[in-house]
Amino acid sequence: KIYPVILSGGAGTRLWPLSRAALPKQLLPLVSDLTMLQETVARVAAWPDMAPPLIVCGNEHRFLVAEQMRESKVAPLGILLESVGRNTAPAVAAAALYLQAIDPEAVMLVLPADHVITDAAAFQRAVRSAVELVREGALATFGVVPTGPETGYGYIRRGEANGAGYRVDRFVEKPDRATAESFLADGSYYWNSGMFLFQAGRYLSELASFQPEMAAAAERAVSLAYRDMDFCRLDEAAFSACPADSIDYAVMEHTRHAVVIPADIGWSDVGSWSALWEVSPRDEAGNSQRGDVYLDGVSNSLVRADSRIVALIGVQDLVVVETADAVLVAHKDQVQRVKQIVDHLKTSD
Ligand code: GDD
Ligand code: MG
Repeated sequence: KIYPVILSGGAGTRLWPLSRAALPKQLLPLVSDLTMLQETVARVAAWPDMAPPLIVCGNEHRFLVAEQMRESKVAPLGILLESVGRNTAPAVAAAALYLQAIDPEAVMLVLPADHVITDAAAFQRAVRSAVELVREGALATFGVVPTGPETGYGYIRRGEANGAGYRVDRFVEKPDRATAESFLADGSYYWNSGMFLFQAGRYLSELASFQPEMAAAAERAVSLAYRDMDFCRLDEAAFSACPADSIDYAVMEHTRHAVVIPADIGWSDVGSWSALWEVSPRDEAGNSQRGDVYLDGVSNSLVRADSRIVALIGVQDLVVVETADAVLVAHKDQVQRVKQIVDHLKTSD
């Protein structure tokens, strides 16, 4: 059996003003009428041999997550609650420990709740093709052919062919611009999609050898965890004492058991408004619109109206996002700077 583990703890600040701390992007309907969490759940729910999903999220989002799961009509295996975010390595460790108690042979498919995959069938094939390597002890990542020198991704250099994929020659998390450019020129690098397949036990043993303190804290947090209604609360003291780090820095950069499975699956992590525009349905003029929107002579723009009528005339390449208490107007090529608005708002109030 494969156990999907859905990470739903991020903030998604680059999709301000829609995405907020109280309502981050994975809990919003961005590309369809389903929220990104619901899309993620639905994507794997119908696969054969797939267990119900285990969700890991922050305590503050528990009711939204539970409600969205009820709407999606998929009963989760569990919802693990973090009192504080400790980044992905501890979240995955808690999930691995939880699953190991149920099934010592558990293979887990780690899925961020906020990704778009347009070719779900190809994704299923990629995951299937990795299972054999994973049963032999590999930690599989899914590699996306890079289309630009993005600095917000991990890069994977493929080594020798190995089963359905390649051994990982190097894993470099978030390189600087010049390094990313050299990786693109080199041609043997993939983007790390942030999705992983491995045996729970293998992940835990790697974590214990590279990050013993983190592994021990996660173990305490799970062994002292308790049920609270539909939720499983990780022990607050133990989990907050856990060092924070991402699975990429904590494990993937160090392990010698990594393999990369090439995945041409229409993947996007929807890290910005322009990325959302790219994966959204668009009309003939290239506009993606939602809500009460009036457009005249507008092209290649993303326009969302939440609470009022939004009208645009004679403009191109814009992002306009209207919410009850904030409005964003930006050139589609400049939306990476939205993060700075959020930083500014945080420091000015
Ligand atoms: N439960 C939980 N707890 N989830 C978390 C936490 C946490 O503390 N922190 C992050 N997540 C979730 C986020 O919601 C997101 O879905 C996923 O884990 C990845 O975290 P990000 O913070 O978005 O990571 P990143 O984008 O900087 O980098 C990762 O993803 C890239 C692809 O999108 C890395 O894996 C990169 O190597 C990769 O290229
Ligand atoms: Mg991300």
